[in-house]
Amino acid sequence: MSGCGQDQKKGVSRREMLIGAGKVAVGAAILSVGAAELVTPAAATTTPPPTPWGYRKLDPAKTAAIAYENWYKNYCCYAVASSIIDQLREQIGGPYNNLPVEAFIFGHGGTVGWGTLCGTLMGAGIATSFAAGKKGEEVLNDVIAWYGDTQLPIFMPANPKATIKQVNASDSPLCHVSVGKWMKKEGVSLASAERKDRCARVAADVAFHTVTLLNKWADGNFEMENGSQSKEYGITAQNNCMECHGDNVPSPKI
Ligand code: HEC
Repeated sequence: MSGCGQDQKKGVSRREMLIGAGKVAVGAAILSVGAAELVTPAAATTTPPPTPWGYRKLDPAKTAAIAYENWYKNYCCYAVASSIIDQLREQIGGPYNNLPVEAFIFGHGGTVGWGTLCGTLMGAGIATSFAAGKKGEEVLNDVIAWYGDTQLPIFMPANPKATIKQVNASDSPLCHVSVGKWMKKEGVSLASAERKDRCARVAADVAFHTVTLLNKWADGNFEMENGSQSKEYGITAQNNCMECHGDNVPSPKI
C-alpha cells in the first residue's frame, strides 16, 4: 500500500488539534476524562453550513484513477467518496476544507464486512449528497441502477496491481451478491490480489459514472432514468427478486 502519508498526516494533526482544544476546554479535569471524550465536539465553535456545498465539473477519467489508487489506502467507500470530495476541496474549498473523508472508511465490505450496499455506492452517495443535496439522490438512484446492469469492472488501471479475467453484471447493489458472483466466476478468494483489484477497479468505474452524471447535472442536462424502487414494487427492494425468493415472489400489501 502506498501513498497513505498525506492523509495520515492530516488525520494526526486534526486529532492533535481536537485533543489540544479538549485540554483547553476541560482544563484541570484533563486527568479524569477519557480519550473518547476529548475528541468529541469540544472544539466545534460554529455549526457547519447546510448542504449542498457545491460542485465543479470534474474529469471522470482522472477521478476514476484517483479512486483506484485510494481503494488501496482505505477501500471502496473511502475510494469513491475521496476521489470526488478531495478534488472539490481543492477546487471549491470552503466547508469541504473541514470534511474528514476518513470518516467514511466504514463502508468497506458493504459496511464493515456485512455485505450490504456496495461501499462504492455508499461513497458515491456521500459525494452526491454534499455536491448536489436532494438532487444527489436522483444521481445516486441512477448510479445504483447502472451498477447492477453493467458488466464490471470496465476500468483498466495504468499500473494494474493484479491481472483479472472476468467481468460480471451483479444484478444487485449488494456487496455480498456483487463480489460473490464475481469471485465464483473468477475462481478466487476474498483475500486474493485479484479480488482486491476487481473491487478497486469497480470503485474507479463507480467514481467515473458518478462524476459523468454529476457533470450532466451541472450542465442542466440530467434527467433521472430509474424510477423509485419502493413506488414500483410497493416495498423497498433490489430488482433480482427471484434470486432470493425463487418462483414465489411475495406481493406486498399496497
Ligand atoms: C437479497 C434477497 C432479496 C431480494 C433481492 C428480494 N427479497 Fe423480498 N425478502 C427477502 C427476505 C429474506 C424477506 C423476509 C423473509 C420472508 O418473510 O419471506 C423478504 C420479504 C419480502 C416481502 C415481505 C414478506 C411477504 O411474504 O410478504 C415482500 C413483499 C418481498 N420480499 C417482495 C420482494 C420483491 C417484490 C422483490 C423484488 C423487487 C424482492 N422481495 C427482492 C429477500 C429478498
